[in-house]
Amino acid sequence: MSVSGDRVVLRPLQVIDVDALEKMFAEPAVARWWPRFDRQKIEAELLHPDEDTTVYAITVDDELAGVIQSCEDDEPDYRHAGLDIAVATRWHGTGVAVDALRTLARHLVKVQGHHRLTIDPAADNSRAIACYEKVGFRAVGVMRRYERGADGTFHDGLLMDMLADELE
Ligand SMILES: CC(C)(COP(=O)(O)OP(=O)(O)OC[C@H]1O[C@@H](n2cnc3c(N)ncnc32)[C@H](O)[C@@H]1OP(=O)(O)O)[C@@H](O)C(=O)NCCC(=O)NCCS
Repeated sequence: MSVSGDRVVLRPLQVIDVDALEKMFAEPAVARWWPRFDRQKIEAELLHPDEDTTVYAITVDDELAGVIQSCEDDEPDYRHAGLDIAVATRWHGTGVAVDALRTLARHLVKVQGHHRLTIDPAADNSRAIACYEKVGFRAVGVMRRYERGADGTFHDGLLMDMLADELE
């Protein structure tokens, strides 16, 4: 199912997107924060994700600008959805990321009925943190040595969350 925002259309990822994604994940500004996404990992984790994960191509006028995904935890007592995004360098600073994040967040709240959304950038990914704050996410706290970075060592992550009525 596709979801439309102001400029973006989020549509299911397709096999024909893999070439463009391979190029995007090789860009230094993207690879720094989404390391090791070679063709094999793109196919395994984005084209054929786990059943709780939904991956969308972010498109602008039918051009692939990036990927955005939601991972839904439907355990009734802890129900929430996590988001993640990567946008190709030429689209950074154009508003496409904010549009895509708002569009998916609205879909998760209004259609999927989630009351709480999370996102977990690297603690030193200031650009991503500033972008997520614009959408309405707030810092919860630092998760120490949370994820393995591009250099192979474990780095801190920042847990951010947003409640349904905080969506801007
Ligand atoms: C993270 C990402 C989605 C953000 O999208 P974007 O289009 O670059 O973000 P925006 O331009 O909308 O917002 C970033 C904000 O941070 C500011 N910013 C830019 N570089 C910054 C930096 N180094 N430090 C702090 N703030 C910065 C911008 O000025 C902007 O604020 P403004 O609109 O008020 O001027 C995009 O950069 C991306 O895909 N990067 C590579 C992959 C990645 O990091 N993914 C996130 C993993 S959690």
